[in-house]
Amino acid sequence: MICVILLGPPGAGKGTQAKSLSERFNFLHISTGDLLRENVKKNTPLGTKAKEFMEKGELVPDELLENMILEKFNSLKEIKGFILDGYPRNINQAEFLDRILNENNCKEIIIYLQSSEKVIVERLSGRRICSNCQTIYHLKNMPPKRDLICDLCGGTLYQRPDDQEETVKKRLYVYLQETSPLIKYYQNRLNYIFADDEADIVFGKIVEVIENESNLK
Ligand code: AP5
Repeated sequence: MICVILLGPPGAGKGTQAKSLSERFNFLHISTGDLLRENVKKNTPLGTKAKEFMEKGELVPDELLENMILEKFNSLKEIKGFILDGYPRNINQAEFLDRILNENNCKEIIIYLQSSEKVIVERLSGRRICSNCQTIYHLKNMPPKRDLICDLCGGTLYQRPDDQEETVKKRLYVYLQETSPLIKYYQNRLNYIFADDEADIVFGKIVEVIENESNLK
């Protein structure tokens, strides 16, 4: 089984690319952010605990994520591969993931989406998400055909609470402190992709990496 790990700062385009990649390769898209937001929406015990960290732009404690990841992993059956979007976020999570991938004989392909702060802030401030199917839009870069209505399902678009300016600053700080050390941790295992380009261009480069590393052509 192939595991594509998408790393990169908030707003680099992990969710956008993961969705297109999952359609292209028929891989399962696993977004820890989406899974957590779903738990928050449903008021589950995990969601209640995670909410306070997410609202502040902080990482949810590792032990809460571990159970969620294990459950997801144990439910994977008869799939060619999956895409991890938003996990791992620190060294401890990366070590945990290394163990699971080894135990399950998974081939990892690690993609690092490199993006500048100016682009990140512009992308996050204009991001809108469908409250029904979670499709990601951007008011300027990827606008819906009808104002604030999802093209795919007709759901209403909303702005994520953690996309407010102050929380974005905090998330970027947390990224630098806790997540960016993963670049050194993964070192020679990383495939760098410049992610400030248009989404189609970034997508083409990621597809090339995955095809080369997995023989999936
Ligand atoms: P999460 O949901 O994972 O947020 P994030 O990592 O901050 O990433 P984003 O979703 O903000 O950005 P993205 O890179 O997916 O960009 P997108 O494709 O949307 O996590 C949220 C919170 O959950 C965390 O803060 C934490 O509290 C918790 N959490 C999650 N995982 C955790 C973990 N492992 N451990 C602990 N806590 C965890 O694109 C952004 C915008 O730009 C969109 O509007 C899009 O349309 C546009 N866009 C994308 N690509 C392009 C392009 N190439 N050109 C132009 N516009 C583009």
